[in-house]
Amino acid sequence: MIRVFADPEGLSHGAAELFAAEAGRAAAGRGRFSVALAGGATPRRTYELLASPDFRDRIPWGQVHVFWGDERCVPADDLRSNQRLAREALLDQVPLPAAQIHPMVCAGAADASALAYQRLLQDFFSPAAPRFDLILLGLGEDGHTASLFPGSGALEERERWVASVQKPAEPFARLTLTLPLLNRAALVVFLVSGAQKAAILARALTEKAGEGSLPVRRVRPRNGTLLWLADRAAAQLVPPQTRLR
Ligand code: 6PG
Repeated sequence: MIRVFADPEGLSHGAAELFAAEAGRAAAGRGRFSVALAGGATPRRTYELLASPDFRDRIPWGQVHVFWGDERCVPADDLRSNQRLAREALLDQVPLPAAQIHPMVCAGAADASALAYQRLLQDFFSPAAPRFDLILLGLGEDGHTASLFPGSGALEERERWVASVQKPAEPFARLTLTLPLLNRAALVVFLVSGAQKAAILARALTEKAGEGSLPVRRVRPRNGTLLWLADRAAAQLVPPQTRLR
């Protein structure tokens, strides 16, 4: 299901509205809201809006628990850090208890860091199975999402919830949630903006399930909802029958 917005600002506003609605529903229903944030550039405006007067007082920050879908193993103040993006645009601006912010920490071997984050998730969700209320994801032009890149062994992970990956030519490792965890979420929302994503978005939405090797096509929540939010530039090649206003 895809919703198309006129422009990046409309997309970001739509995403913030959805975040606020889901946070309110989860907090009212279960006393807490667990969300995994996306990295990359697209979600920044959504995060800024969530911290703005239009949204900040509508969200029960005291019941929000923030995680990440992936992280680059760089210092937390590095411009490439997904944690830095979220803290600057949102987390440092809202009354969210520090103990409820769970960054992916790369301390020492990446594999051990992945295991440490898995334990953190197990503690948080136990005794229930891990099921995020909301996972925000981006879409790379090669069809990757989080740090699940085409051909990556992490795509074949069936057990572990967090994997460490090395993107070729990148001088740092990454940590990423894996498909077993992504596909347990109650709601997965992709945010896609810009004409440069038009080809990959159309392919992601029209490729038959099981066809091709796009990582993003493997994100299919079993007992959850998958939603695409895109601006018109990104959705320009998506067949009209696929769209939902
Ligand atoms: C990352 C992101 C990655 C991102 C896509 C889209 O850490 O790189 O998690 O999956 O969401 O690459 O990035 P943009 O929003 O910058 O286009």
